[in-house]
Amino acid sequence: MYTQALDLPDGQAAPAARAAPSDSALQSHFDAKMERDEKVEPRDWMPDHYRKTLVRQISQHAHSEIVGMLPEGNWISRAPSLKRKAILIAKVQDEGGHGLYLYSAAETLGTSRDQMLHALHTGKAKYSSIFNYPTLTWADVGVIGWLVDGAAIMNQIPLCRCSYGPYARAMVRICKEESFHQRQGYESLLVMMQGTDAQKAMVQDAVNRWWWKCLAMFGPPDADSPNSAQSQRWGIKRISNDDLRQSFIDATVPQAQVLGVTLPDPDLKWNEARQHYDHGAIDWDEFWSTVNGNGPCNKERLATRVAAWEEGAWVREAALAHARKQQARALKEAA
Ligand SMILES: [Fe+2]
Ligand SMILES: [Fe+2]
Repeated sequence: MYTQALDLPDGQAAPAARAAPSDSALQSHFDAKMERDEKVEPRDWMPDHYRKTLVRQISQHAHSEIVGMLPEGNWISRAPSLKRKAILIAKVQDEGGHGLYLYSAAETLGTSRDQMLHALHTGKAKYSSIFNYPTLTWADVGVIGWLVDGAAIMNQIPLCRCSYGPYARAMVRICKEESFHQRQGYESLLVMMQGTDAQKAMVQDAVNRWWWKCLAMFGPPDADSPNSAQSQRWGIKRISNDDLRQSFIDATVPQAQVLGVTLPDPDLKWNEARQHYDHGAIDWDEFWSTVNGNGPCNKERLATRVAAWEEGAWVREAALAHARKQQARALKEAA
């Protein structure tokens, strides 16, 4: 779940209220704005629950971007050519940039980056469960581009129309970059599928391992997503989990055929009456087990992020010292 807000314990990342919730005039003004499908900006009054939902969703999205750098970063030193290495470095760097835009967007809601990172590092905040799986072969890098970034795009395009202005604007640029990510992954798989039998088998194996996890990225079925309806009323979420998942499947099956791989679902069939593909049951027990910390790489991912934060302390301190010096110099010159 790249962009689905998961519930967190009460008190998590709850920003200060800016107006009394009992102020019905402000509430009516906000409701009318929702009705007209207008953007909400940082200085506008908004209900606490709307603010809290956005902080949770945008910070989880930001965490997913930076934790998402890790599985693919694992292959930078082992990319099979200079070209693939340059592409992969650029992609991983893009994901870091996405995290920064999104932390900035969440900060406009009154929560600090330190608070958000503290929640991530202490395991209170969630990030997309897909990044708790290992990248075992080079084909995993291509499959992540094709399927994980592909699923992320499906989820994120509607967020360009999100009612909260800073989030919507951040998503426009992110989606453009995600589209490159998806294409580079697919292109690298096309090349491998024209290679040796061992390369083809490696691609098929990676597809088999990632397919179901990508379907789970869209979040639980609509019937089990109690927060979705409110998010849809607020214009944060535009399309339901199940509808997004269906669109992803419908778009991906023909791509798999062109690529020459099979998707590991014996129940995957075109349904003429529905004009959509039917698919088999998703293993939600595995999904929730991974969300709850028991996936193959949860501990490793978190430990890597915490170590990066601690080892980067001197960089933050140096940047602050430099900023203070510059400020003091500017004040002196102005005096
Ligand atoms: Fe991204
Ligand atoms: Fe991406």
